[in-house]
Parts: sequence; C-alpha cells; structure tokens
Amino acid sequence: MLYSEKMTPPASKKTLFVATISALGLICCVVTFFMYYKSPSSVCPYASPSAEDVGPNEKPIVLVWFWPLGVKFDFKDCSKYFNIDSCVLTDDRSLYSKSKGVLFFHRNIDGYLLNMPQEPRPTFQKWIWYHLESPTNTWKIPGLENLFNLTLSYRRDADITVRFDVTIRETDMTDNFTLPKKDKLVCWIVSNHDPNTGTGTREQYYHELSKHIKIDLFGAAYAGRWLSLEEYYLTVASCKFYLSFENSLHRDYFTEKVNGPLVSGTVPVVLGPPRENYEQLVPSDAFIHINDFPDAKSLAEYLLFLDKNDTEYMRYFEWRKFYSVTPHLLGMANEFTQPICLACDYMSRDEGYSVVHDLYGWYFS
Ligand SMILES: *[C@@H]1O[C@H](CO)[C@@H](O)[C@H](O)[C@H]1NC(C)=O
Ligand SMILES: *[C@@H]1O[C@H](CO)[C@@H](O)[C@H](O)[C@H]1NC(C)=O
Repeated sequence: MLYSEKMTPPASKKTLFVATISALGLICCVVTFFMYYKSPSSVCPYASPSAEDVGPNEKPIVLVWFWPLGVKFDFKDCSKYFNIDSCVLTDDRSLYSKSKGVLFFHRNIDGYLLNMPQEPRPTFQKWIWYHLESPTNTWKIPGLENLFNLTLSYRRDADITVRFDVTIRETDMTDNFTLPKKDKLVCWIVSNHDPNTGTGTREQYYHELSKHIKIDLFGAAYAGRWLSLEEYYLTVASCKFYLSFENSLHRDYFTEKVNGPLVSGTVPVVLGPPRENYEQLVPSDAFIHINDFPDAKSLAEYLLFLDKNDTEYMRYFEWRKFYSVTPHLLGMANEFTQPICLACDYMSRDEGYSVVHDLYGWYFS
C-alpha cells in the first residue's frame, strides 16, 4: 500500500506553465530590450521559450535545513564518494525560497515544530522527511502526518531508499577473493544494549548462543574493547562469523551490520526481519539467518561444524563470483553523507507533484 502519491502534472497544466513562462520570457525580452537596446551583446534568457529551455541544465538547490544531530560534512563528499553532483546542496537558509527540495532530519524537529520554516512553502518546493531509525526508536512528533512530499528512509517503499549496495558483478571481472586470515570464530561489535531501544531480543539470543560457542566482543556495551575506525574492517575480517544483530525487528530494517561482514569477507549471522526480506537485497547464500535453526544451540553446533569443514564454509563466498559489495563510510562524521547525497540525486531527477499522506500510518504499519 502506497501512502505517498505521485503524479505528473496534467498536460493542460504543463501547457499553461509553458505558456506562462513564454509570456514572462517575452515580457523579459521586451524589458531587457528597452533597458539595454544600445548594447549589442545583451542576451535574452527566454529568447526561444520551449519546455526544454526552462532551465533543464540548472542544478536544483537542495537545502539541508538541519545538520543531522549537528554533524556537518563537506558537500563535496557526494561527488567524491558517490559520484553525485547533480544538485546544489546547501545549508544556507536564505536560499529557502529558491530551494527545490528541503531536507528535514526527523530527530532535529522541535516537538512544536518551532524550528521549521515559518515562511510559506513555494509551490515548486518539496519537503523531504529524512529518518533512518526503526519505528521502535521513533518519536512521533505531532503535526508531521501530512506535511511532507517525499520520504527518505531505509524502507524499500520510501521515495528515496537508503541502503547498502550489492551490485551485480560485470561478467568479465574475475573476483580475486582470498579469504582473510581468521583467528577468531564468532565476533560481535556492540555499543548499545539499552533495552528501551528494543535490544532485548538480541541480548537474549546472544546470551543463549554464548553458552554454546565462544564469542569475541568489541565495542562500548561490554566494557573496554573500543575499536577505532581503522580497526573496524580488519577486526570483522579476522572472524569467521559476525553477529549482524539489529536492535529492533522491522521489515526492511537491516543496516551496515550486514554490509560490514560482506565487505570484509566474513559470514554474517543475521537477526532481524525474516530471511525472505534479507534475500530481497542480499544473495541468499551469503548469510546465515538465526531462524534457519530451531534454537541458539543448533546454530552454535552448525557454526562449529563449519569451523571444521572448509569446503562447506567456503560455499558462503560463492556469491562473490556474481556480485560485489560496496564498503560503507565509517564513523559519525560520515553517517549522514550517503542519505543526503541520495536526496540530492533524487531531486535532480524529480518531477511532478507528490504528497505524503498519513506519514506515521505508513511508517508504523
Ligand atoms: C583481479 O585481478 C586481475 C589481475 O590482477 C585484474 O585485472 C582484475 O581487475 C581483478 N579483479 C577484481 C574484481 O579486482
Ligand atoms: C507538497 O506537499 C504539500 C503538503 O501536502 C502540498 O500542499 C504541496 O502542494 C506539495 N508540493 C509539491 C510540489 O508536490
């Protein structure tokens, strides 16, 4: 069920629009002519007004209304890391009335909407709701239900979907994959075990699993073993299996916790939405799902079996002949880069009218 409706303007409206622009163009020409008629070099911007001439080559402005949680990055990173350079990203609110898209990071929005734009929204402008937390960790701010035009989320049915790319490998590329050196069996990097964020399920599963197999822990939640960003991929690579346990269980909600091991040459053991949901984005033989086993003990036995059986273990890397994965950017400073770049890319292609009806009805469904 789609709650966000998209339409292209009806032909009559479009014609009217073009006609208006043509008329404006003509007036502009006349005015320009009388103002500059002595100057032979004066150029009339609307000399031949056709739909194609209405600034198709101008990059749209996309205004980042809030820096997400106050974290800034260099907008040039969009072309540097993602080859996206199709809009003008800005945080300059004085460009509000010229912006084609305005991006609002949900967690920055004031409960009474006091920090939202107070000026009216230009008719061509789209407001984008930017939120990547799962419903469990989402605070419903009243007044947002019918305010936006586009959604930016991890959900596959969002207008702009943020996810980690598994792409089909070009056939003439041979994968030179060699298994990284492994000196640990199962690893888990975990920094959050606040039960209020929904982590109860994974905590319980971890405790059960740890009775049957050794698990190397890293991260803030279990005292002491912090990892620097440089250590992240190396650490994950040094383990045969990695626990890709999401904090809460929701459709489409799986994160960089899966991408990290795939990139590193490690088998993710996933806890999250059902296997079918993962298989929509990740090759089915690239990961182990906890639901493939009746309980944690049987999963542990299977992992111990794979530890002793290299041929079986190596089957989990067969997919690399056909697909490749893209490393994700690490660290808080880069966390918000990709979604904002994707919004920029989307706005450069976006046309037509769209409104989001009943935002929470969609998000919490
Ligand atoms: C694998 O190695 C060959 C030869 O060094 C190289 O041409 C090819 O691009 C490499 N493939 C990948 C996927 O890196
Ligand atoms: C954006 O959404 C608002 C609120 O639903 C609506 O009034 C406006 O017409 C929409 N604009 C566009 C360009 O889609």
